[in-house]
Amino acid sequence: MKIAFFSTQAYDRASFDTANRTRGHELIYHADALHDGTAPMAASCGAVCAFVNDRLDEPTLNALALGGTHLIVLRSAGYNHVDLPAAARHGLTVMRVPAYSPRAVAEHAVALMLTLNRNIHRAYNRVRDGNFDLNGLIGFDMAGKTLGIVGTGKIGTALARILTGFDCRLLAHDPVQAPDCVALGVVYVDLPTLLARADIVSLHCPLTSETRHLIDATTIAQMKRGSMLINTARGALLDTRAVIDALKTREHLSYLGIDVYEEEGPLFFADRSSTIIQDDVFERLTTFPNVVITGHQGFLTREALAEIAAVTLDNVTDFVAGRPRIDRVVTSPA
Ligand code: NAI
Repeated sequence: MKIAFFSTQAYDRASFDTANRTRGHELIYHADALHDGTAPMAASCGAVCAFVNDRLDEPTLNALALGGTHLIVLRSAGYNHVDLPAAARHGLTVMRVPAYSPRAVAEHAVALMLTLNRNIHRAYNRVRDGNFDLNGLIGFDMAGKTLGIVGTGKIGTALARILTGFDCRLLAHDPVQAPDCVALGVVYVDLPTLLARADIVSLHCPLTSETRHLIDATTIAQMKRGSMLINTARGALLDTRAVIDALKTREHLSYLGIDVYEEEGPLFFADRSSTIIQDDVFERLTTFPNVVITGHQGFLTREALAEIAAVTLDNVTDFVAGRPRIDRVVTSPA
């Protein structure tokens, strides 16, 4: 099938070209993000492949359907950026890659924890500058600390498995208990209890209307003093302004590690080093010594990229054959 790709980077093109050698689809790559203005670029393409910051709202979906698209394949697990009822109304099937490498994201969450804890970001700069002063770099042993995992799906469970090796005490909050986590000794508690007890809180739940701003001024006030917050899930799980206020006082929140940001759409996935960034909230975050930010790279391992490409192209093949895998279909026309 002819597939129009949006928001592609060089690494996307490399992994999809490799995966397509044995699959034989026609791949058309666009660097532009998908929105109603760029949707006509997919005209005559039966499938469109989109990424996390593409805008799949009603006008865009309408334009894609008018151009002859029947299938949207997301090269992501999350699908909060798609207006699903609108997709179904316009006769579009939406498929995703439910699990490509949960460990890649879980390992990235651990990288953020250790960087913040042991001040690796500051030590790196000091040593390069010939400054071997250790003052201000004191960390803490992970062993014996309490880790709170919010969302124990595939990534949260992978994280629990890693942290078991650190001899951490594990708490979790999730409406559904994962048998693997229970077997690892993870104790499920309500969110206020988790926030009050955890030295490190790591978010791994999807962004929904219920979880938007899950961490706001009220829930931050419930957090243990001096705790660390890690968010590799979706930016809008945090009320960023409330988080900044909390970081300024350092009372409840002493460290923040994020791979995602509420307003990341206009910022991430491009080199903006020669421009003046207009987002003052983001810029304020970058001034804190106790904040580490990465630009949505939790998924970015060789293994995950290969799996994303293989599953995405298989989703197209299965759809064409009339047997789409039900666990990968997010919505389909009624
Ligand atoms: P999953 O669907 O396997 O697990 C999500 C878990 O969250 C489920 O167990 C669900 O019951 C739970 N949950 C739902 N509502 C909740 C709530 N209100 N409170 C607590 N738990 C709740 O998803 P997976 O694969 O583990 O991914 C988690 C999130 O990670 C995705 O939704 C996505 O936003 C993000 N992600 C980030 C990536 C990155 O590169 N930074 C890459 C892949 C995913």
